[in-house]
Formats: sequence, structure tokens, C-alpha cells
Amino acid sequence: MFKIAPSILSADFGQLAEEVRRVEEAGADQIHVDVMDGHFVDNISLGPAVVAALRRSTRLPRDGHLMITNPLPYLEPSARAGAGHISFHIESESDPRECIRRLRERKLGVGVALSPDTPAQRVVELVPLVDMILVMTVYPGFGGQEFLAYTLEKIPVLRAAGGTGGRLDIEVDGGIGPSTIRDAARAGANVFVAGNSIYGRPDPGGAVRELRELLRRIGP
Ligand code: DX5
Ligand code: ZN
Repeated sequence: MFKIAPSILSADFGQLAEEVRRVEEAGADQIHVDVMDGHFVDNISLGPAVVAALRRSTRLPRDGHLMITNPLPYLEPSARAGAGHISFHIESESDPRECIRRLRERKLGVGVALSPDTPAQRVVELVPLVDMILVMTVYPGFGGQEFLAYTLEKIPVLRAAGGTGGRLDIEVDGGIGPSTIRDAARAGANVFVAGNSIYGRPDPGGAVRELRELLRRIGP
């Protein structure tokens, strides 16, 4: 199933509840929340307090993307704040198996994220242990960057590692919009994060519906 995950990084933080309501009404599937520490990436965004505030504004699952050097100590606070599932980066300094174990303990969805230069092989062994692989299609840190098409080459490798059950979600994140979403879907992605192409538009709800329509034309 295709899922659309608007990224609030490009939303107006001054009216976050309203921004989230717009995409929820338009049929978004989950809200992508980018957490950055100014160390793993050259930007600082938001943390568990904002995730907790979002819980009061939307019923959609919060899709936490931790771009932080040491995610392990922040898994529990993120869980308490009401994240539905959490992705941490394989390039971070935390032990990935320990992160997976802690998230499972809290019954959260588990995702592992890969930056553009990290090969798929680096996470193939972890695929059976997680719910989602997040393939960064830009360098992490900022919204509004140009899509890196070569990153899609990893997706068929990850799909194959996920077996035939079709249970693995593959999320693409960065530069996704009307001109790139089809290529990402055809490569095998099924969860689409979009920041600038949704919140950079005067009508974010209309942008969600447009992406949905493009996906509908591709297939199930
Ligand atoms: C970038 C973040 C993305 C970002 C995507 O590091 O992980 O989620 O919000 O923004 P766009 O869709 O504008 O590239
Ligand atoms: Zn993200």
C-alpha cells in the first residue's frame, strides 16, 4: 500500500496544528517528524516536546526520523511523546540491534535510515528485524533539496532482502514531489515523505491529493 507522509519540517511552525489538520483532511497517512541535533546533521529542528504537542493535534501516526548522533537515549523520550514508529540512522553511533530491541520493547514500529552514500548491503542483515527502511534521497539535514536519483538503486536490493511477503515498508525521503514520486514508486518504494512539495505550496491539501492521484495511476 502506498502511504504519503508530509514532513512538517517545511510547515509553518507558528501554526503547526492547522498545518497538520490540512494534510490530514486531504488523506495523508502519517506525519513525518524530523528530529535533528546540530551534530549528526548541520541543522537543529525539534524534539520530543513537539512530537507530544502533535499528538494533541492529529490522530495520524507520527513517523519520527531521528537524525541524531546517539539515538539510543532518545528512543524512550520519543516513545513517551507518542511517536508511532521511529527510524534511526545506521550511520549513527548507537548499536543498531540495541536500538531495535528497545523500540520493540516499547511496541513501536522500527525503521532504519540510510544516508545517500551508505550502500544497501549495510542494512540487509537487519531487514528481517525491522518494519521499515528509510532511504534518504537527499543528504539529510534540510528540506527543499534536489532529489538524488541514484539513491533509488538501493531499493530493489532492499525489497529482495525483505522477501516476498511485502511486509517491509520502504520510505523515500527528500526531493519527493510530482516529478519524482513515480520513479521512486516504480523502484519499489511505498512510503513517500514530502516536505517542500506539500508545504511549499499555498494549498498543502491539494498537493497531497495530487501526489495520491499520481500514485493511483501507477497501481495498487
Ligand atoms: C531532510 C529530512 C526530510 C525533509 C524532506 O533531512 O529528512 O524529511 O523534510 O524535505 P523535502 O521533501 O523538501 O526534500
Ligand atoms: Zn526525514
